[in-house]
Amino acid sequence: MTLFAVQFTKQEAFGHARAFTVGVSMFPGRYAFRTSSPANTESIRNRGILQSRGDKYYHHPTERPDMELISVAAVADNGVIGQDDGLPWESIPADRRQYRARVAEHPVILGRRTFDSMRDDLPGTTQIVLSRTPQETSVETGEYVTSVTEALSAARALETDRAYVLGGAAIYGLFQPHITQMVLSRVPGAYEGDAVFPEWDRDVWTLQEQTRADGFTLEHWVRTR
Ligand SMILES: NC(=O)c1ccc[n+]([C@@H]2O[C@H](COP(=O)([O-])OP(=O)(O)OC[C@H]3O[C@@H](n4cnc5c(N)ncnc54)[C@H](OP(=O)(O)O)[C@@H]3O)[C@@H](O)[C@H]2O)c1
Repeated sequence: MTLFAVQFTKQEAFGHARAFTVGVSMFPGRYAFRTSSPANTESIRNRGILQSRGDKYYHHPTERPDMELISVAAVADNGVIGQDDGLPWESIPADRRQYRARVAEHPVILGRRTFDSMRDDLPGTTQIVLSRTPQETSVETGEYVTSVTEALSAARALETDRAYVLGGAAIYGLFQPHITQMVLSRVPGAYEGDAVFPEWDRDVWTLQEQTRADGFTLEHWVRTR
């Protein structure tokens, strides 16, 4: 229920001189506001304050994700991401560098098969590995979990503001409903493969940034509801 709307004309709430309108709604245990200025909306959003609903942005402290869950994947034009436990294309060094650097200071979540294929050079600070078989890890930085819930708890226990989901296909699919951002390396061409990236609803995602790179195009998608 919207109670009132006010117009700020001076440098107020978030340090912007431009006028913007704020509608305030009161709900039991939470509140929301909506801005009419894209610039202010973007600024507020960048501060991690807002959650968005389509083109409207709402402040719900009780709903704000405490941890960003970001999937990172290289995806061919036909959605293929893997073949025979490997990549179907020649390694793309620039892509490997960018994704390794991106996740280097954060925990990563990955499936047992992908984890096994990376044992020689593990990504991230901690590897949270999904397996249906509870097991001890032989890797100091690794931890096995048996469900999505356990994986998310393990990541939260590390008091991180973000965790990266590194695949493979089964794990991208399992986590997709929980993912808040996707960083996708678009690999040109269609490839044969036995592993594909899950479908997602374009209506609830916004392409925030697209950058051409050597051998791929990097896309940064943000969930908007
Ligand atoms: N292009 C990319 O960016 C990218 C990134 C990563 C991987 N890949 C490719 O993806 C392929 C591997 O994908 P994948 O789907 O075969 O394997 P995966 O997702 O890496 O791992 C699958 C394993 O995860 C565990 N698992 C799956 N569902 C589970 C659940 N509900 N609960 C608990 N554990 C669960 C199982 O481990 P247990 O068998 O131990 O029970 C399962 O065998 C490879 O080709 C790889 O190269 C591509």
